[in-house]
Amino acid sequence: MKRSRSQKLLAVWGSPGSGKTTLAAKLAWHYEKEGFRTALVFCDWSTPMLPCMREEGELSEQHSLGSIFAARRIVPALVEANACQVKGAEQLGLYGLLKGEYETLYPPVSKRQAEEFLEVLKEQYDVAVLDLTSEVHGQVLTETGLRKADEVVRLLGCELKSLSFYKSQLAYLHEETIEDRYFYRVISDVKDQMLAKAMYQKTAFQLQHTEELVKQWERGDLFGELEEKQSRGYLEGLRALAEELISE
Ligand SMILES: Nc1ncnc2c1ncn2[C@@H]1O[C@H](COP(=O)(O)OP(=O)(O)OP(=O)(O)O)[C@@H](O)[C@H]1O
Ligand SMILES: [Mg+2]
Repeated sequence: MKRSRSQKLLAVWGSPGSGKTTLAAKLAWHYEKEGFRTALVFCDWSTPMLPCMREEGELSEQHSLGSIFAARRIVPALVEANACQVKGAEQLGLYGLLKGEYETLYPPVSKRQAEEFLEVLKEQYDVAVLDLTSEVHGQVLTETGLRKADEVVRLLGCELKSLSFYKSQLAYLHEETIEDRYFYRVISDVKDQMLAKAMYQKTAFQLQHTEELVKQWERGDLFGELEEKQSRGYLEGLRALAEELISE
């Protein structure tokens, strides 16, 4: 089934370890299965996440996000040529550093390059999902993504640390109008703490804890299906959020 183009740029942001990469991967997989041409971008230059999605052989990992930013101008053909693919999801383009790569292999990303890249993604894909870094300062892709995304999901961890993190990072966004932009606040119960519900009562979306996800991470199979009964709560939260994010 091919769904109509929504051309949405979606960003996933939140405190360290709050489940950003997990959610970004699951959202992208969900949209591809819904018939959308989908991009998934891993914006963390310190930890290449591509190798954690599917085992070798299932994933084509010969194209690096770094090659895109090695060019001065980011044009559609360059972006298209540097997407990685995974078996079973032909309409999903993956962008990230490859196993063993590190930030200083490539020249620093400029603000203009980041903007051009995000514009091309929006033009070429029905939905583009950005897995942002928690830290904003010095992270050009994250900072640009937060400004340019049509929707930003803010994952709320279960600890006080999560609130403290948010307040400290906002300082880096003050120059831009992002300060008062709308965030989708989503509880992410990464550590199975009921405390989260008490802390954030007015949140419409919740991603429940499930050990099946923990196991997928351990195996490096984040694109695997969640089939166990215990994962139903997470999947319900994911689907509800996915629909809301692309609704007009
Ligand atoms: N709903 C969940 N239930 C159980 N475990 C989860 C859930 N969501 C995420 N996790 C686990 O939490 C850990 C952190 O998840 P993830 O790497 O997605 O977070 P992150 O915000 O991207 O972290 P980082 O800040 O390091 O990039 C992983 O081990 C993952 O298995
Ligand atoms: Mg991550």
